[in-house]
Amino acid sequence: MIKLKSAAEIEKMRAAGRIAAQARQYAGSLVHPGVSTYEIDRKTGEFIRNAGAVPTFLNYNGYPGNVCVSVNEEIIHGIGSKKRLLKDGDIVSVDVGATIQGFVGDCADTFVAGTADEAALRLIEVTRASFAAGLAAARPGNRISDISRAVQKTAESAGYGVVREYIGHGVGQQLHEDPEVPNFVEEKRRGPDPRLIPGMTIAIEPMINEGTYEIRVLSDGWTVVTKDGSRSAHYENTVLITNGGAVVLTAVEQ
Ligand code: MF3
Ligand code: CO
Repeated sequence: MIKLKSAAEIEKMRAAGRIAAQARQYAGSLVHPGVSTYEIDRKTGEFIRNAGAVPTFLNYNGYPGNVCVSVNEEIIHGIGSKKRLLKDGDIVSVDVGATIQGFVGDCADTFVAGTADEAALRLIEVTRASFAAGLAAARPGNRISDISRAVQKTAESAGYGVVREYIGHGVGQQLHEDPEVPNFVEEKRRGPDPRLIPGMTIAIEPMINEGTYEIRVLSDGWTVVTKDGSRSAHYENTVLITNGGAVVLTAVEQ
């Protein structure tokens, strides 16, 4: 069931989105060679709490971190570790959830430690462009699959793999609500393909691999990595569907 949000609920989503976006930006400022992924997790968790919110991911299905910190071939759900020190040129995806007044903001971005190579910058740029294409397609009259197709086309035409096992989602009082928001379309559609309606709040989150789309999960039970060891980037925002199109709720200023 898709829960449309009232004006009062959207205000709470904005508050959650603002804190999540500020925490994402703060996390990005911590990404430097020599810093541990644990430090990024701990400090970003502190930032969220200092803003009066709760880190949404902590204890979600038993997840042990405040946020997710995923390096290079790690796609998503990387767990901060004191032993993992960032090296020059590493790409670091930080996924942040903040809950306040009972509503969730969910967003992610991929940052570079030190100096990036050309290929890394292109991967990150195309991942953001894939999100932007999805955002532009997120308007009333269109369906979820229009978002999916726009994301997929942008990433695949640049030669990248689009992760299939993990997808975007509705977001609101719960981190994961209906509808599912895949980053790809299938010839034989599995599920419903709802029309976009004002008041829907969804997370659009392309996870884009330099190589194939295939993944595996590490023995920690959480960290999702590319099967071929190629690097991966992640970009995510929580957005609101309005009559005029989609509006990003995980924005630092609004
Ligand atoms: N942005 C991710 C998602 O939408 C974060 C979930 S991490 C978890 O699913 F640890 F909470 F599962
Ligand atoms: Co999400």
